[in-house]
This record gives sequence, structure tokens and C-alpha cells, in this order.
Amino acid sequence: MKKIITYGTYDLFHQGHYNLLKRAKDLGDYLIVGVTTDNFDLERGKMNTCNNVMERIEAVKATGLADQIVIEEYRGQKIDDIQKYGVDIFAIGSDWEGYFDYLNEFCQVIYLPRTQGISSTELRQERPTVNIGVIGTGSIANRFVNEASNVNSVIISSVYNTRIEECSVFCQTHNIDHVANSLDELFSKCNSVYIASPYKTHYDYCKKSLLAGKNVLCETPFVLDSAEAIELYEIAESNHLALMVALKTAYCPAFRHLFSLVKSGVIGDIVEINASSTTLLEEGDYIEGNRYGGSMVENGCFTMLPIFKFFGLDYQNINFYSKMKGQTDMFTKAVFRYDHSVASFQVGWGVKTEGNLVISGTKGYVYVPAPWWKTDYFEVRYEDQNQNKKYFYPYVGDGLRYEIKDFALAVLNKDYHNTNLTMQEIFAMAKVQEIYSKEINLYKL
Ligand code: CTP
Repeated sequence: MKKIITYGTYDLFHQGHYNLLKRAKDLGDYLIVGVTTDNFDLERGKMNTCNNVMERIEAVKATGLADQIVIEEYRGQKIDDIQKYGVDIFAIGSDWEGYFDYLNEFCQVIYLPRTQGISSTELRQERPTVNIGVIGTGSIANRFVNEASNVNSVIISSVYNTRIEECSVFCQTHNIDHVANSLDELFSKCNSVYIASPYKTHYDYCKKSLLAGKNVLCETPFVLDSAEAIELYEIAESNHLALMVALKTAYCPAFRHLFSLVKSGVIGDIVEINASSTTLLEEGDYIEGNRYGGSMVENGCFTMLPIFKFFGLDYQNINFYSKMKGQTDMFTKAVFRYDHSVASFQVGWGVKTEGNLVISGTKGYVYVPAPWWKTDYFEVRYEDQNQNKKYFYPYVGDGLRYEIKDFALAVLNKDYHNTNLTMQEIFAMAKVQEIYSKEINLYKL
């Protein structure tokens, strides 16, 4: 019996896929089709698939051409599969001509003619797009626009900044056609808005954007007052709009898997969490003051993320210890007491700490090395070191593409309840910032 194997993503299954499978099947007696997993696609930088792996497998199955379907999870799997299944022929479309010649050592490699005029990429481009208007043109907005170009179905259609010259330079740098002279002009060009303006303007811009019927992705810290956060979400809900906070760590593959892994009990009951994020800055490089400045405002939400994710939102109390310089906290340690556990974080501009995350449990602990908030790697460690395990993940580019992809999906699928960073977690973060700004349980060092 002659066995053939072929691989693909098979997103938005089309005639070109069918023809290829048919041609591959005609080469022998038994066809194995490898379908890439969502994670493998992410790792390869394919951020844009519209169908998930189950839907893509179903589409291949429905052709009736595959005798066996396998999922492709990692680089190098093709050689393993060829040997494992005793494959005679590896077949793939001619767009890969030459690329898989190295497999000739293991079986015959055949490049089959590709069907002209159709591809998943083209089909995706015909689907509705998320036209984003950007408010603010600082360094994070630069990174955002670069990253957005990696996410299909997202277009940056216009940019607004009160300083119009800066806005023009930004648009030139990024090849964006439209410089908006006013918010209304920006709104006329987009269905969604990314807010990367100074923190004190977030509430106002979010509200105006939502009232204008735009979906919103707002940089972190979102707002520093829980009543404002609740009000904005109420507006979003009643107008059927997406409102998401761009806290990039929450959307990254490593952090997402860390969450499900730890929740599955690999380190037993979690008893302590400590997260740290500090950057030494010179005077003039940071925003002063205790309302919209200081290291707590700047980085507090990142370090609260693992605490709220793993321990939930029902802490009993919180204490802050801040090293001040005038009105500005240059270092803050916060300690949360829960019923059966304790969590803490450190943020700082004038003090340097190890920027790691440690989650300690009754059976072992998780160590996420610095900088844990953009991690592609962590370790689960036990008393018996032989049982330690290392986990590696993609963290491509600046890591913003994951949140952008989630935002685009929320808008396109009208699915507004993001589980990577929930509305309740966002309210809780705003509440902590509010308590801190009121100096409740704050001990100045
Ligand atoms: N294929 C083909 N003819 C097409 C499109 C794809 O023969 N018009 C083949 C590819 O060469 C590959 C298989 O179908 O062997 C699966 O390809 P996949 O990458 O899933 O499909 P594409 O449409 O090429 O997807 P994309 O545009 O995302 O690259």
C-alpha cells in the first residue's frame, strides 16, 4: 500500500485545498492529512486564521479524501510522522517548491500544481476588516502600528494627536494616509479606536469613542477609578461595542498557558504569589505626581494581573509601602491578604529588583524569569529536581499582536466577553489604583 502525507492550515477551506488533497490522494492508496494546531500557527507567526483547529479538521474530514488526519504541533514533526506512519510520498503545493527537499532522505517528495486564483489569504482579505483609528502617537503607538501589520483583518485607517505635526510625522513613518485634525474626523474613518494617549485623557477619549459607536482598545492603565471603569463598560455593553484593555501579558501564549497549567493543580494549592517589575529612570524621564504619575500607576496593573488571575478578586485587605520622592512613588510594594493565601508585588523607577514572577504552591512552584511580563519561557519546579519541567512558547515581535488579534476577533465576532482579561479584573485593578491614590493603607518609607 502506498501512503501519502500532506500538511496545511486549511483555513476557510476552499477549492484549492480540495484539488490539492485530490491530487495527493491520486498518488497512491492511503492519504494522511496533517492539520496545524492553532498554537503551531501562532508560533510560525500566522496570526490570522479565521477557523480554529477543530473547524479546520472538520473541513478536511468533510471532503472524504483523508484516510487519516493528524495534527501538526511542532517543527520537525514531518520527519517523525513520515517514519512513524511508514509514509512513501510527501506531497505539497508548488508554492513550497524546493522547501521540503530535505525530506527526500526519508521518502519521495512531490510538489503538486497549485490551483491558481484562490488562497486563504485572499479569502480572509475579502472578510470584514477592523479599521482602527489611533489616538496618541508615543512610543507604544509606534509599536502598536508595527505589530498590527502582522494581524490580518486589521487596518490602521487614521491617527489623531492634538499635536498635529507629530501626528503627520507618525503617519509618514508608518505610511498611513489619513491624519485626523479632530476626533470627529478620526471617527469618520474608523469603526474602532486604539487609545494610547496620556493616562489622564483615557477616560475622556474612551467615553467619546464609545458614544460615537466605536469599539475601543485602551492602553493600560485603563482608568484609575473604578466608578469610571464601570461607567465605560456600561456604555460599551448598552451600545454592543467591544471595550478591551491593552495589557499585553494577559493575551500572550506563555501567560495563558501558565494560567491553565497552574489551575490544573501542577503545584498543588497556591499559597503565595510575588511579581516584580522595575525600571530605573532618570528624573525627567518619568511622569511626576501621585495621580497620573509614579511607578504604581505606570506598572501596577501588570503586576496585579497574576495576582487577580490566580487568587481572584476577593482579597481581605491591601497594604502599600512606597518610597517617595516628593509626590512621586519611586518604588511601591503592595501586599494583598487573602483568606488562605498572600500575594505581593513590587514596582519601581528608583529601585531595581529582579523582575520575576514566582507562584508558590503546596507541591512545588512556578518560576517565570525576568522580564516575566513578556515571557516565552517558565519552569515548574519541585523538591525532587528530576521532576522539574521547562515550558517554551512563542513571543513574537513586541508581543502586542496577541492583544490586537483578540481585539479584532472580539469586534468581528461580536464576542465582547474576553476571558484573558475580564471586565471584573479590570474593575479590580482600577479599584486598587483608586485606593492607592487616596493613600488608604499607604505607608510612606
Ligand atoms: N494550495 C493549493 N492551491 C491553492 C491554495 C493552497 O494547492 N490555491 C495548497 C498548498 O500548496 C498546500 C495546501 O493547499 O499544499 C494547504 O495550504 P494552506 O497554506 O493551508 O492554504 P493557502 O490558501 O495557501 O493559505 P495561506 O493563504 O494562508 O498561505
